[in-house]
Amino acid sequence: MIRLLYLSQATHDISDVQVQDILRSARRNNEAVGITGVLVHGGSMFAQILEGPEQAVLRMYVKVMDDRRHGDVRIIHISPANEPMFKDWSMAVIKSNPMEFQHIAQLRTHRMEAVHAQAFGETMREFVAILNAQRASA
Ligand SMILES: Cc1cc2nc3c(=O)[nH]c(=O)nc-3n(C[C@H](O)[C@H](O)[C@H](O)COP(=O)(O)O)c2cc1C
Repeated sequence: MIRLLYLSQATHDISDVQVQDILRSARRNNEAVGITGVLVHGGSMFAQILEGPEQAVLRMYVKVMDDRRHGDVRIIHISPANEPMFKDWSMAVIKSNPMEFQHIAQLRTHRMEAVHAQAFGETMREFVAILNAQRASA
């Protein structure tokens, strides 16, 4: 499974009715495909975590990305996950400006660079280990 966090800008001011409408769709559709997560909204921003089977999450992300109720949709973080953190919620909701969350703000600044750097580092270490093993058996 994977966990994906994106941020987006609402096209119009976000109303409670609009959020209820989104949640109704989410609760109807997400459970059927094994997706859980949380929708954070406030100011004119959305942040959403989608977690679940990789294909289901990516498909849902593409569907949601096309929704005209928001734009400037950007993946902030995506990573493999062992188990859902929001398993009790087909879609939880938090009413708060996403930027008030320190780590979201940091992730947005660095976007995926840090993740890439780490993954890159691991890959390099893996290559070195393979080379060392080859040398040892030569
Ligand atoms: C910020 C935002 C988050 C959304 N999150 C979800 C979601 O988690 N699940 C979902 O099914 N639809 C979500 N939607 C709505 C979808 O874009 C789409 O309108 C909906 O899935 C259509 O449902 P239907 O195919 O059952 O008519 C979201 C929309 C927005 C603007």
